This record gives sequence, C-alpha cells and structure tokens, in this order.
Amino acid sequence: MVIFGAAGDLAKRMLIPAIYNLAQSKLLPSQFAVVGVSIEPYSTEQFRERATQNMREFSTSPVDQDSWGWLVDRMYYLSGDFRDANLYAKLKGTLDQVQKDEGTEGNCLFYLAVSPEFFPVVIQHLGASGLVQEDNHAWRRAVIEKPFGRDLASAIALNHAVSEVFQETQTYRIDHYLGKETVQNLLAFRFANGIFEPVWNRRYVDHVQVTVAEELGVELRGGYYETAGALRDMVPNHIFQLITLAAMEPPISFEAQSVHDEQIKVLRAIQQLSPERVLDHAVRGQYSEGTVGGKHVPAYRNEPHVAPDSQTPTYVALSLQIDSWRWAGVPFYLRTGKRMAKRITQVVIRFRRPPLVLFRKTPVDSVSPNELVINIQPDEGISLSFEAKIPGPTVRLGAVNMDFQYSDYFGSTPSTGYETLIYDCMMGDPTLFQRADMVEAGWAVVEAILDVWKALPPRDFPNYAAGTWGPPQADELLHRDGREWRDPVRSAPHHPQAPVAHPPVPTSKS
Ligand code: BG6
Repeated sequence: MVIFGAAGDLAKRMLIPAIYNLAQSKLLPSQFAVVGVSIEPYSTEQFRERATQNMREFSTSPVDQDSWGWLVDRMYYLSGDFRDANLYAKLKGTLDQVQKDEGTEGNCLFYLAVSPEFFPVVIQHLGASGLVQEDNHAWRRAVIEKPFGRDLASAIALNHAVSEVFQETQTYRIDHYLGKETVQNLLAFRFANGIFEPVWNRRYVDHVQVTVAEELGVELRGGYYETAGALRDMVPNHIFQLITLAAMEPPISFEAQSVHDEQIKVLRAIQQLSPERVLDHAVRGQYSEGTVGGKHVPAYRNEPHVAPDSQTPTYVALSLQIDSWRWAGVPFYLRTGKRMAKRITQVVIRFRRPPLVLFRKTPVDSVSPNELVINIQPDEGISLSFEAKIPGPTVRLGAVNMDFQYSDYFGSTPSTGYETLIYDCMMGDPTLFQRADMVEAGWAVVEAILDVWKALPPRDFPNYAAGTWGPPQADELLHRDGREWRDPVRSAPHHPQAPVAHPPVPTSKS
C-alpha cells in the first residue's frame, strides 16, 4: 500500500491506525507493506518512529506491541515532491525492493491522501511512470479521497484525468461515511428484513429527515473550508450517500454494480431546483460566537485562515423531492452544520398518521405519527416509536420507543471507520465506493444551488449562534409544510398527551 501524503493528518489520524486495526484483527496478509510518500525529508527509520509516536496519540485502542511491531517493520518511506517525475522512478525501485523483501507479488494500492490539487498530478505521473501497469495477475488500484471536484465541471475533468490512467474497476473514490457500520447497516436493515420494505414508500412515509450536525467548528481547516463551505463539503458526498441508501430500490444483488445502479437512479431522480425554488428550498447559515459543550467559542469569521467578512456557509438545509413512483410527493429534508448544539448524525423516517383517530369521546384527539430513527453517530442504533395506552382507567396514549443499540448486541470494536474501506480495496470490492457517474450526479444536483448562492451573496451572515440548531429560516423551511425538525437529542418521542404519574380518579361511574 503506497500512501501519498503519508506524513499528513489523514494518514496519521486515520489510515495508519486503521491499518493497525486490520493487522490486529489478522485481516492483513503476511505479504504486506506500507510505503509512505511525502515531501517531508524523513528516512524510513524516522518515519517509523513518528508513526509509533502518532499511534500512541491517535490509536482507537491500546496499542498491542506485537501487532504494531509486525506492522512498523513493514513500513518504508520515500521523500519527494509529487510534481517530480524522479519521485516515481524512485518509487518504482522501492516497490521492486519491497516486493522482493515482503513478497507482495506486485499488487499495489495507491492511496491519495493528498490535497486535491495533487490528485491529477499524482495520477498522471503514476500513469507516465508505468506504475499502473497490471502484469502477471498483479493488481494496481487507486484510492482517491474527497473532495472529488468542487463542482460538476471540475468533477468531470477529474474523472477524465483518472480514466486516462486507471480503468474504472481500478478506481476507488472514497467517501468515509460508507465506512461507518451504521451506514452500511441501512442496507441490511432495509433488505435483510421483510417487514420494512412494504411500508418504505409514499403510501406510508410522510417525509424523511437527515441531520448531520457537528459540534466542531472549522478548526484549522479554514483555508480549505473557505473554498468549500457546508454545501460542497457535506452534501453531494456524505449526505447524498445516506439519502441513496435510504431511498434506493432493492438491488438485484449486493454486487457493486447492482448497488451502484440503484444509487445512481436516486441521484438522477432528485428534482433539480430552479433558481426560484433555490430561494425557498435551500437555506444557508454561518455561525457567530456562542457556547458549545459549555465552552465559549468564536464566530466563524474569527477562526484561523478565515476572511473577517467571509460569506462561506457553515450550515445548509435543503428540501428535496425524489421523482420516482416510490417517493413522489415525499419531501427529503436535510441539514448539516458546524458548531451545532450537539454532534449527531441521524436519518428519520416519519410515517403518516393513522387515517382516523378511533378514540372518540376520550381525551385523545390526536396521535403521534410513528417514527423510525436511524442513529448513525455517536450512539449508533435504531429506534421505532409507537403509541401505547398509558395504564389506567381513562384512555390516554403515550409514545414509546423500541430501541436497538449497537453496543448492547455487538459490543464495540476499535475502529476509525476506514478499516472496512481499506480492506475492501485490497479485496477488490468497490461496493462502498463512488462510481464516476454517482459523483457527477451528486454535483449536478447541488450545482443549481451553488450558482444561485454565488449570484446572490448572503446579507445576513452570521445568522446563527454557535451551539444552536442553525438559522430560523431552516425551521421555516419545514413549518411552511406543516412539519418540524425532530429534536435530535430527544430520546423519547414528543407527545401532546404526556404521561402523568397518577391518572385522574373517576368522579362518577359511566
Ligand atoms: C469531512 C468534512 O468529509 O467530514 C469535514 O470535510 C467534516 O468538514 C467530516 O467535519 C465529518 O465526518 P464525521 O465522520 O466526523 O461525521
């Protein structure tokens, strides 16, 4: 495995700990090695030492010395400039040597953990230096990190640059949301159970909500974030992955192509917003100072590397429609933001209310709709709310929850979220990766919004305080439709007939 950008943040926080977790779980072959490539002038020895220090800081579990020792002995380092053709000639030599020493048989995974301007540079050099050539059954694959383009045109251009060097079957466009167990579980939940699919459609579902809220601000990534903003950073990739898995038709098999074929249909069916509709179906926000987790935090405009008059959105909420027979008329509301009240990612399926309330002549005049909440993080699990009779002589109803917590059943395994993805690349299974057309379809949807927002800069930024749930316009987006965002931190569903400890004593017999 060759990691371009091996001295960078992603490699030390996620990739090396993930590879270690795979080693620890005995999921790596004995013929395995890592070759780190970066501009930093380290020797292999120094790289190993730094990796060992980083592991102490970033490992998701106590580091087992035997497993780490096994792995670190298989780590090599090459210093150089990604733009320099000589680097790739040297890499070829290193790979030949590693192949002899570690018996890797010519298989090679190139992981591009580099900043996006280097994607085409590295790819083009890999092609020109012959490193992509698959000889004698050996495979060569590339993993490309996000952001994959910054709009439709740049994504098409990047796909083109990649396809000049790698076949589509050699290309793994990573979206780390697909590495999350709970995201993968969406497929299992829907298609390994018989009882949900029949109600998973417009006849029974009122609407769907997706919330991806972060407590963190922009941290030290202001430089990148200023050029991206919440829409580009989260929607065409992570959130659309969640939506495709929640909305797709059952694939004919779990093979990559079948799954991708269904995902792309969802993306293509998302109704394009006209400029007029962008104005009232898309909300943007930027955080001002506030309190998060009991700590005072600065406004976005006061974060490092951020312009003092920045117009970059740190929050976005959209109301989208999917034009398919299954979903016509069912709104998909999505929102994501930084510096929200709490870190939480969840998908909520809100079902329709029963067609009529049968409990006449009782205090019950309405019932809560059933709600299925799929918690992606941090408390991974699924819960279904339904109405139950509150014990007692009078008819009163209360909403209750049926809860499944991952950790109760399966314990928790140390994971960075990258283990499955790296493993799948090595096994040659692209199911959890994005195909070229999926990336482009995602950008095609958000492009209309980007265009309108560019033409009409926001006049009210900052418009939400850090530590809240975003700007008031996001609430209006749903109020207009007679709906509201589910409070993501509420564990039991809200019900107008809240249970009371003691039911009233009847005054007369009826
Ligand atoms: C990244 C974004 O892709 O995902 C970040 O660039 C964001 O801005 C992160 O913070 C969120 O990932 P997670 O796994 O913490 O939800």
